[in-house]
Amino acid sequence: MTQKPMYEGKAKQVFATDNPDELMVYFKDDATAFNGEKRGTIGNKGVLNNKISTFFFNLLGEKGIPHHLVKVVSDREMLVKKLAIIPVEVVVRNIAAGSLAKRIGWEEGRKLPSTVVELYYKDDALNDPLINDYHIKAMGLATPEQVETMEKYALKINEILSAFLKDKKLELIDFKLEFGIHKGEVLLGDEISPDTCRFWDSETGQKLDKDRFRRDLGNVEEAYQEVLRRITGQA
Ligand code: C5P
Repeated sequence: MTQKPMYEGKAKQVFATDNPDELMVYFKDDATAFNGEKRGTIGNKGVLNNKISTFFFNLLGEKGIPHHLVKVVSDREMLVKKLAIIPVEVVVRNIAAGSLAKRIGWEEGRKLPSTVVELYYKDDALNDPLINDYHIKAMGLATPEQVETMEKYALKINEILSAFLKDKKLELIDFKLEFGIHKGEVLLGDEISPDTCRFWDSETGQKLDKDRFRRDLGNVEEAYQEVLRRITGQA
């Protein structure tokens, strides 16, 4: 595409289309971690994340979760419904890892006896701080009904994905979701990929996600490829 993106994020570019209700998302190979402090590229990440996200959006759509995907346009491009993004990131956790393990002092890999849902204010300048529904209400980030809908979808998505991945010998440790409003309705947006989820091999515990990049574990592209292979059978 030669057109200038209307928005450029760390891993994706977003372009306007002729249809005012739709946008084109282009998946890049760029990878960042620790809010942009660590930068690099992961070979073919854009192609892999486009395919993996598409697969998950379709799976979730079949199970009644409304999402923004309209259709895949190329290896790296996805046509989506235009959303007014709700600036709240919803994280769901089944196993303590990452920032939660640090915050509550649990060793990584310890099972959480009940699912944890967290809300973060999507603001790079503030490093995406943890917030709760009182902050959301006071800051006017979303209505209480929208928060309830996001949490309800997040828990249902956790059930659907955890069960599906278990059959593929992948453990869903945690993941992040973003939602937006389209024609008054809350839709799932952004992506669902090894950039935004933690996937561990159920038998070996091997990490098959962006932690391989964050923690310099090597074989990053291979890990993303392995996730695609397990979920779709595609090489
Ligand atoms: O870093 P933390 O442990 O809080 O991340 C929880 C989950 O949310 C991980 O799967 C991580 O990949 C994802 N995440 C994300 N984007 C962020 C923060 C976290 O995709 N800005």
